[in-house]
Amino acid sequence: MVVEDFWSPDERRFFRERMNRASWKSLSDLSNVREDFPNSGNWAKAEISPEDGQRFLLRLQLACIRDHIESFPNIIGRHVGFNYYSYSAGDCLLTHDDTDQGRLVEGRRGLQRRIAVVTYFHEEWQPDWGGELIIYERRADRAGGHIDLTPTHCIEPRPGSLVMFTVPRFHRVCRVDPTAGQHRRLSIAGWFMTEHA
Ligand SMILES: [Fe+2]
Repeated sequence: MVVEDFWSPDERRFFRERMNRASWKSLSDLSNVREDFPNSGNWAKAEISPEDGQRFLLRLQLACIRDHIESFPNIIGRHVGFNYYSYSAGDCLLTHDDTDQGRLVEGRRGLQRRIAVVTYFHEEWQPDWGGELIIYERRADRAGGHIDLTPTHCIEPRPGSLVMFTVPRFHRVCRVDPTAGQHRRLSIAGWFMTEHA
């Protein structure tokens, strides 16, 4: 699901200011993630403060999220995990389905990522600058365990837009093109998760 203009210019400015104050870690500093995503440039990730995380989640109280989460049986807990991300020219994220990186989220085991959300806070984005989110559908697996994927959606990171999809689903972020210059693809991304005994 894609919602255009989910965030107003003021809201985008608010979160960009918060991103400016956040403490960022580059992919080169994140050894586990770097192993999962080699040759993915050097994008950066930062934690959202608890107050700003609350502000973000209050706006994300959508019935479709609640209904999907509550559709899973025997939930003993509901969790969220969101971060700031900054992609500059040369940065990308290789194809993955959001399950195999879920070994430990916030130090907890047994959390199932159910809904992935990515939403964009930069001021401007041009089609030439890349950074599109590609969503894939899994066709019948080929012999030899090779996963056969076909792209179903190519989603431009339009300022203020919000993308949601259910997990697992294969996806990747196209490399940000050098024509982006100093422009950064600024997002908040993460998951709504359930915990089961
Ligand atoms: Fe992902």
